[in-house]
Amino acid sequence: MMIPPVDLGTQYRGLKTHIDAAFQDILNSGTFILGPHVAAFEKAFASYCSVDHAIGVNSGTSALHLALLGLGIGPGHEVITCAHTFIATVEAIAYTGAKAVLVDATPDTCEMDVTRIEAAITPNTRAIIPVHLYGQPVDMDPLVEIARARNLPIIEDAAQAHGSTYKGRKVGSLGTAACFSFYPTKNLGAYGEAGAVVTNDPELAERIRCLRSHGERARYHHDLVGYNYRMSAFQGAVLNIKLPYLDEWNTQRRHHAEAFTKLLADLPLTLPVEAPYAQHVYHLYVVQSDQRDALYDALRASQIIAGIHYPIPVHLAPAFADLGYEPGSFPVAERLAKEVLSLPLYPEMSMEQIERTVVVVRGFLEAH
Ligand SMILES: Cc1ncc(COP(=O)(O)O)c(C=O)c1O
Repeated sequence: MMIPPVDLGTQYRGLKTHIDAAFQDILNSGTFILGPHVAAFEKAFASYCSVDHAIGVNSGTSALHLALLGLGIGPGHEVITCAHTFIATVEAIAYTGAKAVLVDATPDTCEMDVTRIEAAITPNTRAIIPVHLYGQPVDMDPLVEIARARNLPIIEDAAQAHGSTYKGRKVGSLGTAACFSFYPTKNLGAYGEAGAVVTNDPELAERIRCLRSHGERARYHHDLVGYNYRMSAFQGAVLNIKLPYLDEWNTQRRHHAEAFTKLLADLPLTLPVEAPYAQHVYHLYVVQSDQRDALYDALRASQIIAGIHYPIPVHLAPAFADLGYEPGSFPVAERLAKEVLSLPLYPEMSMEQIERTVVVVRGFLEAH
Protein backbone atom coordinates (compact mmCIF):
# COMPACT_ATOMS: atom_id res chain seq x y z
CA MET A 1 0.00 0.00 0.00
CA MET A 2 1.26 3.44 -0.96
CA ILE A 3 1.96 6.00 1.76
CA PRO A 4 1.00 9.33 0.16
CA PRO A 5 2.42 12.72 1.23
CA VAL A 6 -1.07 13.74 2.44
CA ASP A 7 -4.47 12.03 2.71
CA LEU A 8 -7.36 14.38 1.99
CA GLY A 9 -9.95 11.64 1.28
CA THR A 10 -10.09 10.28 4.83
CA GLN A 11 -10.58 13.79 6.25
CA TYR A 12 -13.40 14.50 3.77
CA ARG A 13 -15.22 11.28 4.63
CA GLY A 14 -15.24 12.32 8.30
CA LEU A 15 -16.81 15.72 7.49
CA LYS A 16 -18.90 14.70 4.48
CA THR A 17 -22.35 15.32 5.97
CA HIS A 18 -21.51 18.91 6.93
CA ILE A 19 -19.63 19.76 3.76
CA ASP A 20 -22.23 18.28 1.43
CA ALA A 21 -25.01 20.17 3.27
CA ALA A 22 -23.11 23.48 3.05
CA PHE A 23 -22.45 22.96 -0.69
CA GLN A 24 -26.15 22.20 -1.22
CA ASP A 25 -27.00 25.41 0.62
CA ILE A 26 -24.70 27.41 -1.66
CA LEU A 27 -26.14 25.77 -4.80
CA ASN A 28 -29.65 26.65 -3.65
CA SER A 29 -28.72 30.21 -2.66
CA GLY A 30 -26.94 31.13 -5.90
CA THR A 31 -24.34 33.13 -3.93
CA PHE A 32 -21.14 31.54 -5.19
CA ILE A 33 -18.64 34.31 -4.36
CA LEU A 34 -18.08 35.80 -0.87
CA GLY A 35 -21.51 35.77 0.87
CA PRO A 36 -22.45 34.45 4.33
CA HIS A 37 -20.18 31.38 4.39
CA VAL A 38 -17.10 33.51 3.67
CA ALA A 39 -18.21 36.22 6.14
CA ALA A 40 -18.72 33.59 8.87
CA PHE A 41 -15.28 32.11 8.19
CA GLU A 42 -13.61 35.54 8.23
CA LYS A 43 -15.12 36.24 11.64
CA ALA A 44 -14.15 32.83 13.06
CA PHE A 45 -10.63 32.92 11.61
CA ALA A 46 -9.91 36.44 12.92
CA SER A 47 -10.97 35.29 16.36
CA TYR A 48 -8.87 32.09 16.05
CA CYS A 49 -5.79 34.20 15.21
CA SER A 50 -6.56 36.69 18.03
CA VAL A 51 -6.88 39.63 15.62
CA ASP A 52 -9.72 41.99 14.69
CA HIS A 53 -9.96 41.50 10.91
CA ALA A 54 -9.66 38.68 8.38
CA ILE A 55 -10.17 39.22 4.66
CA GLY A 56 -10.82 36.09 2.59
CA VAL A 57 -9.15 36.01 -0.82
CA ASN A 58 -8.58 33.52 -3.62
CA SER A 59 -5.05 32.34 -2.67
CA GLY A 60 -2.15 32.86 -0.31
CA THR A 61 -0.24 34.54 -3.13
CA SER A 62 -3.06 37.08 -3.56
CA ALA A 63 -3.09 37.61 0.22
CA LEU A 64 0.61 38.56 0.13
CA HIS A 65 0.11 40.78 -2.91
CA LEU A 66 -2.75 42.69 -1.26
CA ALA A 67 -1.01 43.03 2.11
CA LEU A 68 1.95 44.64 0.34
CA LEU A 69 -0.27 46.91 -1.78
CA GLY A 70 -2.36 47.83 1.25
CA LEU A 71 0.83 49.03 2.96
CA GLY A 72 1.64 51.22 -0.03
CA ILE A 73 4.56 49.16 -1.32
CA GLY A 74 5.49 49.64 -4.97
CA PRO A 75 8.24 50.55 -7.45
CA GLY A 76 11.46 51.88 -5.90
CA HIS A 77 10.85 50.02 -2.63
CA GLU A 78 12.63 47.01 -1.19
CA VAL A 79 11.09 44.20 0.85
CA ILE A 80 13.26 41.80 2.88
CA THR A 81 12.45 38.09 2.99
CA CYS A 82 14.23 34.72 3.13
CA ALA A 83 16.01 32.91 0.28
CA HIS A 84 14.65 29.58 1.55
CA THR A 85 10.90 29.88 0.95
CA PHE A 86 8.23 28.96 -1.57
CA ILE A 87 8.49 31.14 -4.65
CA ALA A 88 5.12 32.88 -4.01
CA THR A 89 6.57 35.00 -1.19
CA VAL A 90 8.96 36.61 -3.64
CA GLU A 91 6.52 36.68 -6.57
CA ALA A 92 4.11 38.81 -4.53
CA ILE A 93 6.87 41.36 -3.91
CA ALA A 94 7.65 41.42 -7.65
CA TYR A 95 3.96 41.98 -8.54
CA THR A 96 4.03 45.32 -6.70
CA GLY A 97 7.10 46.52 -8.63
CA ALA A 98 9.22 46.45 -5.45
CA LYS A 99 12.51 44.56 -5.23
CA ALA A 100 12.97 41.49 -3.02
CA VAL A 101 16.08 41.62 -0.84
CA LEU A 102 16.89 38.15 0.46
CA VAL A 103 18.63 36.91 3.59
CA ASP A 104 19.96 33.44 4.34
CA ALA A 105 18.26 30.76 6.45
CA THR A 106 19.34 29.20 9.75
CA PRO A 107 20.80 25.70 9.39
CA ASP A 108 18.69 24.11 12.14
CA THR A 109 15.18 25.62 11.93
CA CYS A 110 15.60 26.35 8.16
CA GLU A 111 14.00 29.77 8.65
CA MET A 112 14.88 33.40 8.02
CA ASP A 113 18.08 34.15 9.94
CA VAL A 114 16.98 37.26 11.82
CA THR A 115 20.57 38.16 12.72
CA ARG A 116 21.06 39.05 9.05
CA ILE A 117 18.16 41.49 8.75
CA GLU A 118 19.91 44.60 9.99
CA ALA A 119 22.60 44.35 7.27
CA ALA A 120 19.94 43.96 4.56
CA ILE A 121 18.11 47.21 5.43
CA THR A 122 18.64 50.20 3.12
CA PRO A 123 16.90 53.61 2.87
CA ASN A 124 14.51 51.97 0.37
CA THR A 125 13.37 49.15 2.68
CA ARG A 126 9.62 49.34 3.28
CA ALA A 127 8.68 45.97 4.83
CA ILE A 128 9.96 42.64 6.13
CA ILE A 129 8.29 39.29 5.37
CA PRO A 130 9.28 36.52 7.80
CA VAL A 131 8.11 33.12 6.53
CA HIS A 132 6.97 30.67 9.22
CA LEU A 133 8.31 27.80 7.15
CA TYR A 134 7.28 24.15 7.62
CA GLY A 135 4.89 25.09 10.46
CA GLN A 136 7.20 26.85 12.90
CA PRO A 137 7.30 30.61 13.62
CA VAL A 138 10.38 32.70 12.91
CA ASP A 139 12.10 34.14 16.00
CA MET A 140 9.89 37.23 16.06
CA ASP A 141 11.03 39.26 19.10
CA PRO A 142 14.41 40.36 17.67
CA LEU A 143 12.75 40.97 14.31
CA VAL A 144 9.99 43.12 15.83
CA GLU A 145 12.60 45.12 17.69
CA ILE A 146 14.54 45.89 14.49
CA ALA A 147 11.34 46.72 12.58
CA ARG A 148 9.99 48.99 15.36
CA ALA A 149 13.21 50.96 15.57
CA ARG A 150 12.89 51.78 11.86
CA ASN A 151 9.12 51.98 11.64
CA LEU A 152 8.98 49.09 9.16
CA PRO A 153 5.85 46.94 8.91
CA ILE A 154 6.13 43.17 9.24
CA ILE A 155 3.98 40.93 7.04
CA GLU A 156 4.00 37.36 8.35
CA ASP A 157 3.91 34.71 5.64
CA ALA A 158 1.95 32.19 7.70
CA ALA A 159 0.93 30.04 4.70
CA GLN A 160 2.42 26.93 6.35
CA ALA A 161 1.79 27.65 10.01
CA HIS A 162 -1.94 27.86 10.83
CA GLY A 163 -2.33 27.58 14.58
CA SER A 164 1.35 27.55 15.55
CA THR A 165 2.43 29.83 18.37
CA TYR A 166 5.42 32.00 19.26
CA LYS A 167 5.95 32.32 23.03
CA GLY A 168 2.29 31.36 23.43
CA ARG A 169 0.97 33.90 20.88
CA LYS A 170 -0.70 32.75 17.68
CA VAL A 171 1.01 33.37 14.35
CA GLY A 172 -1.05 35.91 12.48
CA SER A 173 -1.03 38.25 15.49
CA LEU A 174 2.72 38.90 15.58
CA GLY A 175 3.16 41.58 12.89
CA THR A 176 1.31 44.36 11.09
CA ALA A 177 -0.51 41.84 8.91
CA ALA A 178 -0.27 38.13 8.18
CA CYS A 179 -1.05 36.07 5.11
CA PHE A 180 -2.40 32.52 5.03
CA SER A 181 -2.81 30.01 2.23
CA PHE A 182 -5.64 27.46 2.34
CA TYR A 183 -4.27 25.40 -0.53
CA PRO A 184 -5.85 21.93 -0.06
CA THR A 185 -2.76 20.29 1.48
CA LYS A 186 -2.20 22.98 4.12
CA ASN A 187 -2.93 22.32 7.82
CA LEU A 188 -6.18 24.19 7.20
CA GLY A 189 -6.99 23.44 3.57
CA ALA A 190 -9.88 24.35 1.28
CA TYR A 191 -11.15 22.29 -1.68
CA GLY A 192 -9.61 24.65 -4.19
CA GLU A 193 -7.52 27.82 -4.05
CA ALA A 194 -8.07 30.19 -1.11
CA GLY A 195 -6.19 32.50 1.24
CA ALA A 196 -6.65 35.28 3.80
CA VAL A 197 -5.00 38.40 5.20
CA VAL A 198 -5.41 39.06 8.91
CA THR A 199 -4.63 42.30 10.74
CA ASN A 200 -5.52 44.45 13.72
CA ASP A 201 -5.32 47.64 11.60
CA PRO A 202 -8.85 48.68 10.57
CA GLU A 203 -7.70 51.01 7.76
CA LEU A 204 -5.40 48.41 6.26
CA ALA A 205 -8.22 45.85 6.45
CA GLU A 206 -10.54 48.26 4.65
CA ARG A 207 -8.02 48.93 1.86
CA ILE A 208 -7.41 45.20 1.37
CA ARG A 209 -11.17 44.51 1.31
CA CYS A 210 -11.52 47.18 -1.37
CA LEU A 211 -8.54 45.89 -3.41
CA ARG A 212 -9.75 42.27 -3.43
CA SER A 213 -12.92 43.27 -5.28
CA HIS A 214 -12.04 45.67 -8.12
CA GLY A 215 -11.31 48.59 -5.82
CA GLU A 216 -15.02 48.88 -4.95
CA ARG A 217 -16.19 50.52 -1.74
CA ALA A 218 -19.80 50.39 -2.89
CA ARG A 219 -21.17 48.42 -5.86
CA TYR A 220 -19.72 49.90 -9.10
CA HIS A 221 -17.99 52.72 -7.22
CA HIS A 222 -14.31 52.07 -7.94
CA ASP A 223 -11.97 54.10 -5.72
CA LEU A 224 -8.79 52.16 -6.46
CA VAL A 225 -7.47 49.99 -9.28
CA GLY A 226 -8.20 46.66 -7.64
CA TYR A 227 -8.22 42.97 -8.47
CA ASN A 228 -10.60 40.06 -8.69
CA TYR A 229 -9.16 38.21 -5.68
CA ARG A 230 -12.43 37.28 -3.90
CA MET A 231 -12.86 34.01 -2.00
CA SER A 232 -15.32 31.45 -3.38
CA ALA A 233 -18.34 30.69 -1.18
CA PHE A 234 -17.57 26.95 -1.44
CA GLN A 235 -14.09 27.48 0.01
CA GLY A 236 -15.44 29.71 2.80
CA ALA A 237 -17.89 26.95 3.73
CA VAL A 238 -15.22 24.20 3.78
CA LEU A 239 -12.86 26.34 5.85
CA ASN A 240 -15.57 27.27 8.33
CA ILE A 241 -16.44 23.61 8.84
CA LYS A 242 -12.80 22.57 9.21
CA LEU A 243 -11.55 25.39 11.48
CA PRO A 244 -12.88 23.88 14.76
CA TYR A 245 -10.78 20.74 14.06
CA LEU A 246 -7.52 22.56 13.32
CA ASP A 247 -6.05 22.37 16.84
CA GLU A 248 -6.87 18.66 17.11
CA TRP A 249 -5.27 17.98 13.71
CA ASN A 250 -2.19 20.00 14.70
CA THR A 251 -1.91 17.96 17.91
CA GLN A 252 -1.99 14.75 15.86
CA ARG A 253 0.73 16.15 13.59
CA ARG A 254 2.85 16.94 16.66
CA HIS A 255 2.39 13.37 17.99
CA HIS A 256 3.43 11.87 14.67
CA ALA A 257 6.46 14.20 14.52
CA GLU A 258 7.43 13.13 18.03
CA ALA A 259 7.19 9.47 16.99
CA PHE A 260 9.38 10.06 13.91
CA THR A 261 11.95 11.97 15.98
CA LYS A 262 12.15 9.19 18.56
CA LEU A 263 12.42 6.40 16.00
CA LEU A 264 14.97 8.19 13.78
CA ALA A 265 17.12 9.65 16.58
CA ASP A 266 20.07 7.23 16.25
CA LEU A 267 20.46 7.63 12.48
CA PRO A 268 22.92 9.88 10.59
CA LEU A 269 20.16 12.28 9.64
CA THR A 270 19.47 15.88 10.71
CA LEU A 271 16.00 15.93 12.27
CA PRO A 272 13.65 18.93 12.61
CA VAL A 273 14.32 21.19 15.57
CA GLU A 274 11.53 22.75 17.58
CA ALA A 275 12.86 26.11 18.74
CA PRO A 276 12.35 26.91 22.45
CA TYR A 277 10.08 29.85 21.55
CA ALA A 278 7.90 27.83 19.16
CA GLN A 279 5.05 25.45 19.06
CA HIS A 280 5.67 23.75 15.73
CA VAL A 281 2.58 22.48 13.87
CA TYR A 282 4.55 20.29 11.44
CA HIS A 283 2.94 21.28 8.18
CA LEU A 284 6.00 19.38 6.96
CA TYR A 285 8.38 17.03 8.78
CA VAL A 286 11.66 17.93 7.11
CA VAL A 287 14.86 15.93 7.62
CA GLN A 288 18.25 16.77 6.11
CA SER A 289 20.58 14.27 4.46
CA ASP A 290 23.56 14.62 2.15
CA GLN A 291 22.16 11.53 0.38
CA ARG A 292 18.76 13.18 -0.07
CA ASP A 293 18.09 12.23 -3.69
CA ALA A 294 19.00 8.56 -3.21
CA LEU A 295 16.92 8.42 0.00
CA TYR A 296 13.97 9.96 -1.83
CA ASP A 297 14.30 7.26 -4.53
CA ALA A 298 14.57 4.46 -1.97
CA LEU A 299 11.36 5.63 -0.28
CA ARG A 300 9.62 5.90 -3.61
CA ALA A 301 10.71 2.37 -4.56
CA SER A 302 8.86 1.26 -1.40
CA GLN A 303 5.79 3.27 -2.39
CA ILE A 304 6.43 5.98 0.20
CA ILE A 305 6.05 9.40 -1.36
CA ALA A 306 8.26 12.06 0.24
CA GLY A 307 8.56 15.69 -0.88
CA ILE A 308 11.31 18.26 -1.47
CA HIS A 309 10.55 21.76 -0.21
CA TYR A 310 12.29 23.25 -2.14
CA PRO A 311 14.93 21.99 -4.58
CA ILE A 312 16.04 25.40 -5.95
CA PRO A 313 16.52 28.40 -3.67
CA VAL A 314 14.70 31.53 -4.82
CA HIS A 315 17.87 33.44 -5.70
CA LEU A 316 18.96 30.70 -8.15
CA ALA A 317 15.56 30.39 -9.87
CA PRO A 318 15.77 31.75 -13.44
CA ALA A 319 12.61 33.78 -12.74
CA PHE A 320 14.56 35.88 -10.24
CA ALA A 321 17.89 36.17 -12.05
CA ASP A 322 17.40 39.93 -12.19
CA LEU A 323 17.72 40.18 -8.39
CA GLY A 324 21.47 39.87 -9.07
CA TYR A 325 22.37 37.02 -6.73
CA GLU A 326 24.60 34.10 -7.70
CA PRO A 327 25.66 30.66 -6.43
CA GLY A 328 27.30 31.21 -3.06
CA SER A 329 25.14 34.25 -2.16
CA PHE A 330 23.20 32.24 0.48
CA PRO A 331 25.18 29.11 1.42
CA VAL A 332 22.72 27.76 3.98
CA ALA A 333 19.72 28.07 1.62
CA GLU A 334 21.78 26.42 -1.13
CA ARG A 335 22.74 23.49 1.10
CA LEU A 336 19.15 23.08 2.33
CA ALA A 337 17.91 22.95 -1.27
CA LYS A 338 20.19 19.94 -1.81
CA GLU A 339 19.51 18.17 1.49
CA VAL A 340 15.92 18.71 2.68
CA LEU A 341 13.41 15.88 2.46
CA SER A 342 9.81 16.03 3.73
CA LEU A 343 8.67 12.65 5.06
CA PRO A 344 4.94 11.92 4.73
CA LEU A 345 3.08 13.41 7.70
CA TYR A 346 -0.63 14.13 8.03
CA PRO A 347 -3.10 13.87 10.93
CA GLU A 348 -4.74 10.68 9.64
CA MET A 349 -1.42 8.82 9.37
CA SER A 350 -1.25 5.54 11.31
CA MET A 351 1.57 4.36 13.59
CA GLU A 352 2.04 1.46 11.19
CA GLN A 353 2.65 3.91 8.31
CA ILE A 354 5.15 5.86 10.44
CA GLU A 355 6.98 2.66 11.37
CA ARG A 356 7.06 1.46 7.76
CA THR A 357 8.58 4.78 6.69
CA VAL A 358 11.20 4.54 9.44
CA VAL A 359 12.12 0.97 8.41
CA VAL A 360 12.86 2.12 4.86
CA VAL A 361 14.85 5.20 6.00
CA ARG A 362 16.84 3.04 8.44
CA GLY A 363 17.45 0.31 5.86
CA PHE A 364 18.73 2.86 3.35
CA LEU A 365 21.02 4.69 5.78
CA GLU A 366 22.46 1.49 7.23
CA ALA A 367 23.28 0.23 3.73
CA HIS A 368 24.93 3.48 2.52
C1 LIG B 1 5.37 29.91 2.34
C2 LIG B 1 4.28 30.09 1.34
N1 LIG B 1 3.94 31.34 0.95
C3 LIG B 1 2.95 31.55 0.07
C4 LIG B 1 2.24 30.52 -0.50
C5 LIG B 1 1.22 30.80 -1.54
O1 LIG B 1 -0.05 30.33 -1.26
P1 LIG B 1 -1.04 29.86 -2.43
O2 LIG B 1 -0.52 28.59 -3.00
O3 LIG B 1 -2.35 29.68 -1.71
O4 LIG B 1 -1.09 30.97 -3.42
C6 LIG B 1 2.53 29.21 -0.09
C7 LIG B 1 1.76 28.08 -0.65
O5 LIG B 1 2.18 27.01 -0.90
C8 LIG B 1 3.59 28.98 0.83
O6 LIG B 1 3.93 27.74 1.21
